[in-house]
Amino acid sequence: MESYRKLDEDLFYVGFSDRRIELFENLYPVPEGVSYNSYLLLDKKTALFDTVDHSVSEKFILSVKELLGKRKLDYLIVNHVEPDHSATIKEILMAYPNAKVVCTKQAKILIEQFFDLNLTEKHFDIDANPELVLGSHTLTFAKTPMVHWPEVMVTFDKLTGTLFSADAFGSFGALSGDIYADDIVFDAEIKEMYRRYYANIVGKFGNFVQNALSSLAKLGIKRICPLHGRIWRKNLGELISLYDKWSKYEAEEQGVVITYASIYGNTEFACNVLANELACHGVKVKMFDVSKTDSSYILSTIMKYDRIVFASVTHNLNIFPKMEDLLNEVVQHNIQNKTFAIIENGSWAPTAGGQMKNKLLALKNNNFIETSLTIKSALKNEQLEVIKKISDELAR
Ligand code: FEO
Repeated sequence: MESYRKLDEDLFYVGFSDRRIELFENLYPVPEGVSYNSYLLLDKKTALFDTVDHSVSEKFILSVKELLGKRKLDYLIVNHVEPDHSATIKEILMAYPNAKVVCTKQAKILIEQFFDLNLTEKHFDIDANPELVLGSHTLTFAKTPMVHWPEVMVTFDKLTGTLFSADAFGSFGALSGDIYADDIVFDAEIKEMYRRYYANIVGKFGNFVQNALSSLAKLGIKRICPLHGRIWRKNLGELISLYDKWSKYEAEEQGVVITYASIYGNTEFACNVLANELACHGVKVKMFDVSKTDSSYILSTIMKYDRIVFASVTHNLNIFPKMEDLLNEVVQHNIQNKTFAIIENGSWAPTAGGQMKNKLLALKNNNFIETSLTIKSALKNEQLEVIKKISDELAR
C-alpha cells in the first residue's frame, strides 16, 4: 500500500512523518515528531526533489515506484545533503541508475563522502546549467549556503511559482494529513514549533538567511515546499516576514525571560521575587529552570523576547553545567539585540556571574543592565532593594 498526495496534476508529495523519533539530529527533543518531505514531478521528464530519512525510506521508495510506474526517473534534485534528506539517495540511484543528480559541486562532494558513490558521470552541475527544462516546467536554482549547510541550494519552478526551499521555512512536527499550512491555524503553539526549528537549525546563520531572502524576493514565489513541515500556498508573507525578523535577531515581543540554575531552590527563589516585581511593573515574564527544560526550547523563547536574565549558582567554581550549556547555545547562535541581567549565587566563592558575563560579551549588539546581584547561599531581606533595582532597570 503506497501513500502520497497529489498537489497538482503532475506534482506529488511523497514525504513521510516519524513519530517514534525522540531526538532530531540526536540532539533536539521532538515530542511532536517530524516530517521528511520529498516531491515528485511527472512532466515529460521526471524529477524527484530530495529523498527522506532512513526511518521512512521503505515506504518512500514504494510511493516513488508506484507513481513512476514504468517511467524512469530522469533527475534527482538534491537541494540539501544532510542525511535526513539524503539517506535514500543510494537506493533511488540503484533503482533508477540513469537518473542525473542535480546539485551544487559541494553537494556532489558530500554525497560521495557520505554514501561511497561516484557521481562524476551523473552530476548535473547547476553552475554549468542554470536552468533545467522538464517539459512544461522549467526549473532554476539558487545557492543558499549555510541555510543550513554550505552545499544547500533551492529550486524554483517557473511555471507554478513553487519554491523547493530545502530546510528553510520548515518546522518540527509530524503531519497528520494536514500537509498545507492553511489546513491548520497558525497559532502560538505552531509558531513556537517553527521558531524552535529555525532558532536551533539555522538560527546561527542570520546573515546567510538574509542573503537568501534577498535573492528569493525577486522570484515571485507562490508556493513553498520545504523539507520539513507544511507546504505554504497562502499567506506566504507571514512566514517570510517571520524569517526576516528572526534572521535580523529582532525580538517578536517585549518581555523578560528569566533562566535560572538552582540546586536547592535559593537562586530560584530570588528569580521568583524578581518575576513578581516585573509582573507588578506590567512586564511579561517567562521563567525556565535550565535543569528542567531542554535548551532548544529556552533558546527559541530567548529569540522571541528582548530582555534576558541569567541566574546561576556557582558549581565547582564554575557556572552550573546546565546553565553553561544554555549560554554556549546562546553564544553559538549569535543572539543579538537583547538586554541582559546577571544573578549569581555562591556560598563561599561566587564566581558564576563574572563567567556568565564574559561568555555573553563574545556576542555583539547586546547590552547589560547596570545592576547585578550576588547571593551568598540565600537571598537576604536587605537584598530586596537590589532585586527591585534590577526589576526597575529591566522594566524601563
Ligand atoms: Fe533537514 Fe539540514 O536537514
